[in-house]
Amino acid sequence: MTVDVETQPRILLSPPDVGELEQEYVMRAMRSGWVAPAGPDLDAFEAEVASRVGVPHAVGLSSGTAALHLALVSWGVGPGDVVPVSTFTFAATVNAIRYVGAEPFFVDCDDTGNMSAELLEQALASLRADGRSVPVVVPVDLFGRAADYSSLVPIAAAAGAKVLSDAAEALGATHNGSPAGSFGDAAVLSFNGNKIMTTSGGGMLLTHDRALADHVRKLSTQAREPVPHYEHTEVGYNYRLSNILAAMGRAQLVRLDDMLARRREWRERYRALFADQPAVSILGGADDAGDNCWLTPIVVDPDVSAWAAGDLGAALDRANVETRPVWKPMHLQPVSEGLRGALDGTSERIFERGLTLPAGSVLSDSEFERIERAILGVTAA
Ligand SMILES: Cc1ncc(COP(=O)(O)O)c(C=O)c1O
Repeated sequence: MTVDVETQPRILLSPPDVGELEQEYVMRAMRSGWVAPAGPDLDAFEAEVASRVGVPHAVGLSSGTAALHLALVSWGVGPGDVVPVSTFTFAATVNAIRYVGAEPFFVDCDDTGNMSAELLEQALASLRADGRSVPVVVPVDLFGRAADYSSLVPIAAAAGAKVLSDAAEALGATHNGSPAGSFGDAAVLSFNGNKIMTTSGGGMLLTHDRALADHVRKLSTQAREPVPHYEHTEVGYNYRLSNILAAMGRAQLVRLDDMLARRREWRERYRALFADQPAVSILGGADDAGDNCWLTPIVVDPDVSAWAAGDLGAALDRANVETRPVWKPMHLQPVSEGLRGALDGTSERIFERGLTLPAGSVLSDSEFERIERAILGVTAA
């Protein structure tokens, strides 16, 4: 019997993977009475993520965006400062820079999709020549592949700039054997619903700097001073992660390696599927070892291929499978009008040719076979 694929449930790009263990942990947290943005699960979640990533300090926050924002606030970044940032990223990275009134300066990517070290160097040289203050650089670990920190960190250090690593998509990835989230002066993770693991919404700041962690924790709880009455010497935020959501995160952390393994399996199958398609490459490079395989973004060379990335997206949509274009570079966004950068067209080219394929850890084998059939319908036509 043949089944009409369009009548089958839609396959989503990266839906949350939560089940009985998460229910158990969340219920236990609720029964404990710790339903505030404080409690033993929050403390334990911070310690467990810190240990997993190999950094001494972690602060659980309401989102990855909040973590980016508070790192910048704590470092005093503000009006008059320029912050070089990957242009090829989700808006949140750049929004945080704008919240503090600093000026984002877009740095294009290399062929991996991550910040080009060469262009960062050029950006810093031209900003220095203009006499601009550049307190921090924000590279992004795009789609779960860590940026080339071995090059980026020394370049930033030579210019006297800190590195804030946006590892929102990259928990579980590594660069030269060290975990994403451990690089730079601070890093952020996101536990949004579509990420490799989720607390439904949440984020974390990771750092080797105890003073930064303490300050960010204080800022996230309305900057209350440690005295019995409510005393405030600086402006605070309500950005702390709730204990209940942290409990969910702890359950996800227990299952993280299994979820990573499942996504890696999809990556291997995509590689096999496109092996005879010279026009198709998987963004990031040929080696998946350090990649967390959060999503699988492909790039289709129109000079070699009879079909375009958009054709594949349309075919998958007809098969009721969700895909998404890769991030539209931030320097092309209307909200960025008037902002400048060190740009060489690479992210624009990837944007025109790219497509992100589903890779959720909840996908079943039969769902993945549906995706494979729909892809073959285009590539083998
Ligand atoms: C690269 C990047 N940075 C920052 C964020 C923001 O994280 P959140 O949604 O937890 O605020 C996300 C994801 O949403 C992201 O993909």
